[in-house]
Amino acid sequence: MFLWCVLVLVSLLSVATGTSAGVKARITQKGLEYGRAIGIESLQQKLRTIQLKDVSGTEKLAIGKVEYSITGMQIVNLGLPKSALRLVPGTGVMLSVGDAYISLRGNWRVKYSWIIKASGSFELAVSELAISTTIAVKSDVTGRPTVSVTKCEATVGSVKVRFHGGASWLYNLFDSFINKDLRNALQKQICPLVTASIAEMNKTLKTLNVLAKVDQYAELEYSMVESPVISNAMIDLGLKGEFFNIGQHEEPPFSPRPFLLPSQDTNMLYIGVSAFSINSAGFVYHRAGALRLYITDGMIPSGSLNRLNTKTFGKFIPQIAKMSPGLMMKLLVETVKEPIITLEPNNMTVQASSKVTAYAIQPNSILSPLFVLKLEASVSAHIYVTGLKLAGHVTLNKIDMSLAESYVGPFQVKSLEDIFTTVVKDVIIPKVNAGVKEGYPLPAIGKMQLVKSQLQVLKDYLLIGTDVKFTG
Ligand SMILES: *[C@@H]1O[C@H](CO)[C@@H](O)[C@H](O)[C@H]1NC(C)=O
Ligand SMILES: *[C@@H]1O[C@H](CO)[C@@H](O)[C@H](O)[C@H]1NC(C)=O
Repeated sequence: MFLWCVLVLVSLLSVATGTSAGVKARITQKGLEYGRAIGIESLQQKLRTIQLKDVSGTEKLAIGKVEYSITGMQIVNLGLPKSALRLVPGTGVMLSVGDAYISLRGNWRVKYSWIIKASGSFELAVSELAISTTIAVKSDVTGRPTVSVTKCEATVGSVKVRFHGGASWLYNLFDSFINKDLRNALQKQICPLVTASIAEMNKTLKTLNVLAKVDQYAELEYSMVESPVISNAMIDLGLKGEFFNIGQHEEPPFSPRPFLLPSQDTNMLYIGVSAFSINSAGFVYHRAGALRLYITDGMIPSGSLNRLNTKTFGKFIPQIAKMSPGLMMKLLVETVKEPIITLEPNNMTVQASSKVTAYAIQPNSILSPLFVLKLEASVSAHIYVTGLKLAGHVTLNKIDMSLAESYVGPFQVKSLEDIFTTVVKDVIIPKVNAGVKEGYPLPAIGKMQLVKSQLQVLKDYLLIGTDVKFTG
């Protein structure tokens, strides 16, 4: 027994510490309130499918033996005017419905003493209907949230009937049917319909994009890495939130640091995206060789005096003009390690360490290397939410250059600063911006839309506060 406890503890600890969430999602009371409204709508539709069977039989009354039947019962109205969703810490949520009502219509028919027949219609009003259900929120094997019904109770309060075209003795005839059979038949059908309606919610939850394709290089994993944390004010989900090379899930040499979402609750949903998540993108794109670009003179704005040819460079490095006169040049810019993203309050900065190789293009198209520079660039990023994506825009802060290797003898790197600022500002940054503008998918389920979202850059994570809207 003791050993078993130790084993369980060890496995729990490894779950708790082995994988920290890169992205956190929080559903607030306001979000649950919206969820309740959708849930009630769906439950209402489900309850409208309640079917009541025809009944018939014989009964001995004072007037003699009576044959009777009730047919064609149909729901004409149904309302769930009062409902509440309450969090059950550690477990899930409790949905209670009170004062619900159902109006039904049907036909009656009786036959007695040989040839006397009577028939008509009736209306039934079922009121003070109450439903109470406890819903557990868990995570399935694919890391998607699931909901299941752990408890459901339904009680039918009062049932009142009005006959049209009949006498008061009809009530006695149908008394048992109205007060017992019908009540039971209704009560029996409610909880299975509640479960069916919750099972439909499962279907929506199953659409969580646990693996969201970003582009030809990367996909983003959003599976849950821990059980949902349910307190009395919110539900917190811990998602992996990590970029991977497509089909090749290798962990970067850094891991997420635990972080806590602030206690804001004016929006329905909060999504915290850690610096780890964003840095995992840098790791993936760098490893995929995507952060690599050949730059030719045609890519430099035509108005610039800084051309990629040995004449321009020769002004600063005379050896180049002497050794390779009249040639066009080409640059290869590539990151030497993954870019490092830093998140400070209201400030997102990216530090990229790269290498630039400058070539002269020989008349036979052969590239002869002239020099290699180390280029450190610092850029500021502005991040925003667009649709269900996170997109951005970067601007250059500064570049630092140093000589790594020269094939044309020593020269002053500083003299090239102007040219390389043009290259970074006018060629590389626009390329990066065209990519970052495409955006990165956020975790989403079903036909979800984000409404009135705002983004804050905080220490070590981005916080998105948003309302949501489900269409269809
Ligand atoms: C939802 O799915 C989970 C597993 O995927 C299952 O255990 C649960 O019973 C389902 N809920 C309902 C209400 O059917
Ligand atoms: C943003 O942070 C970087 C360092 O992380 C710093 O160099 C830069 O000045 C900051 N920018 C602003 C606007 O505070």
